[in-house]
Amino acid sequence: MKILVVGSGGREHAIIKKLKESKNVSEIYAVPGNGGIAKDAICVDIGAKEIDKIATFAVENKIDYAVVAPDDPLVLGCVDKLNEKGIPCFGPKANAAIIEGSKVFSKNLMKKYGIPTAEYEVFDNLDKALLYLDTAPIPTVIKADGLALGKGVIIATTRDEAKDAVISMMRDEMFGNSGKTVVIEEFLTGPEVSVLSFTDGETVVPMISSMDHKRIGDNDTGLNTGGMGTIAPNPYYTEDIAKLCMDTIFIPTINAMNSEGRTFKGCLYFGLMLTPKGPKVIEYNCRFGDPETQVVLPLLESDLLTVMQATTNGTLKDTEVKFSTKSACCVIMASKGYPQSYEKGFEMDIPCGIWNNVYVAGAKLDGDVLKTNGGRVLGATAVAGDLKTAISDAYGLVKQIKFDNAYYRNDIGAKALNAIKEN
Ligand code: AMP
Ligand code: GLY
Repeated sequence: MKILVVGSGGREHAIIKKLKESKNVSEIYAVPGNGGIAKDAICVDIGAKEIDKIATFAVENKIDYAVVAPDDPLVLGCVDKLNEKGIPCFGPKANAAIIEGSKVFSKNLMKKYGIPTAEYEVFDNLDKALLYLDTAPIPTVIKADGLALGKGVIIATTRDEAKDAVISMMRDEMFGNSGKTVVIEEFLTGPEVSVLSFTDGETVVPMISSMDHKRIGDNDTGLNTGGMGTIAPNPYYTEDIAKLCMDTIFIPTINAMNSEGRTFKGCLYFGLMLTPKGPKVIEYNCRFGDPETQVVLPLLESDLLTVMQATTNGTLKDTEVKFSTKSACCVIMASKGYPQSYEKGFEMDIPCGIWNNVYVAGAKLDGDVLKTNGGRVLGATAVAGDLKTAISDAYGLVKQIKFDNAYYRNDIGAKALNAIKEN
């Protein structure tokens, strides 16, 4: 089968590498892909948001199945467009992708269907938001309604900070239209868990749990990033908690979306916080997480294409989805300066022997030479029998990869290891 993967990051590289293991896959195209992905797929110079061009390309090249990985094209209706042209897809239609595309939608959904989440208020009027912040409990969390490249959440520890945040979102439009409406929500505490799930709109199959490391610096210090590393499984996510989440969050969410006439098919990502009052939803994503995918898919033992097709065809109930009992760790190597300004264009040296463990996020080919071309440059993933070994093996890979100005955190997985020791 000819497969098309929409997207250009480490997540897409991980999806492509896993799909290559499938005996039913003959060719993989990536739109737009990147210089690293080009070693594993045919990259086509069409932007991930250019959905008309993507659909035309898919028809002209007789694509059999498409995987739409990033949030933007999903929210813009890339799956709807490809389906109209007769091409089956992995991913939700736009009317279901709104679960990530609008925080107001997802918060109201959870409230209506009794799914546990932080208390919240919605504002589309700046003065009312400012008035509310005069008495709101502090710390508080300000969220732009729409997509904001993963940056639309501000945790304010003082009233002034909270007010500055709503002013910059609502009046100064720092996230454009996405921040004209804001959600102001209760600040929750507890360990965070990412649970990606496969769903065909009826059955929901959680993948192995994982833990992201969002801050740029060791010990969770500094600015928020797209994610600096991940481990799986997440030791805080016990079997009892998994069952509770299934009953109180996962199934109710799938049912709620059906009741709203917005059946969700594809990967539904539950960003959870295990609070003293039980697991609560911090956010939904309508897609695979990045860099969660880079630890979750290497642990998947079943055929990825078969599972993806089952979500499209509504046959997930009868499809085996098996994960290894091993552990995985992914360390992201970034360009020094990220998530603010950084330089690009440095030659990358990745030994051939470890290529299978590397997921390239920001690189381009200059002739045959791979050069850095983004903030997050790549992720190196190791799988091992236990988490401690996976972590040391992942750092062993990182040490073999060279490019100027490389930056990475030194403590990916440390918190998880401590949690294991405490138990
Ligand atoms: P998001 O961009 O939605 O993934 O949010 C970024 C991060 O903000 C999350 O991973 C949490 O660490 C934090 N966060 C979001 N909502 C809350 C909340 N209600 N309470 C505490 N932390 C939160
Ligand atoms: N790692 C968080 C996300 O993909 O949004």
